[in-house]
Amino acid sequence: MAAEDASQRRLTLRDLGKLKREGTKLVVVTAYDVLFARLVDAAGVDVVLVGDSLGNVVAGFDTTLRVTLDHMIYHGAAVRRGVRRAILVVDMPFLSYQASEESAVINCGHVMQQTGADAIKVEGGSAEIVKTVARLTRIGIPVFAHLGFTPQSVRTIGMRVQGREKSDADRMVEEAHALEDAGAFALVLELIPSELAERITAALSIPTIGIGAGPHCDGQVLVLPDLLGLNEGFAPKFLKKYADIGASVKEAVRTFGDEVRSGAYPDAEHSN
Ligand code: KIV
Repeated sequence: MAAEDASQRRLTLRDLGKLKREGTKLVVVTAYDVLFARLVDAAGVDVVLVGDSLGNVVAGFDTTLRVTLDHMIYHGAAVRRGVRRAILVVDMPFLSYQASEESAVINCGHVMQQTGADAIKVEGGSAEIVKTVARLTRIGIPVFAHLGFTPQSVRTIGMRVQGREKSDADRMVEEAHALEDAGAFALVLELIPSELAERITAALSIPTIGIGAGPHCDGQVLVLPDLLGLNEGFAPKFLKKYADIGASVKEAVRTFGDEVRSGAYPDAEHSN
């Protein structure tokens, strides 16, 4: 296959492991609608994640706890219509997979069917979650795991860097191994010290994807409105803004308003 054709080919989960083995960093961003899905897919990301961060950045909730299965299905299906090449992962929201293995199977299966996602993501590394990951994987639902700061547990763990204490770090390494053994195909590491992310990344054969976890992960993920400068006032240390779309939007809408008020728009060129 010519190099150009290869770059257009739809990626598979197998490709992600291969990229880790080759030492090629993986690029992951979130998207919540078809417009941005098309743009990020065309920009060549490896994975598009319909994160339950949509509760914060789209719905304006203060946590992800209020995000429902219906929200994820609606946004997941919209993003599916824009993603051609990248792997599409949809986050499972709070309460949709923790209550029992049975409810997890039904809800994750439902999300796969209703959205056309390639995989789902769940948070945590407890023994129950690990068992659920094994069951999901066995029945053919690929799982992206998530350790460190897990936003659905914000009420119990607080929004802070996780794994600073040696005992917490050792537990996280064990959980990471258990998730890999259970069949997870990749692991998000959120808000943990760089050295711990490096240790976990070296220990696993599946790719680690960091956010606020330093440079040693196999790839990086950012929440799209944050990296585009659309989420004003949100400025954690790890966040780099690659654009200032918020300012461009305000400027464009201000100019539209000025032209409507002055009568400059619509002019002859923009009238039938
Ligand atoms: O919900 C989300 O967007 C996420 C990423 C930050 C990893 O879980």
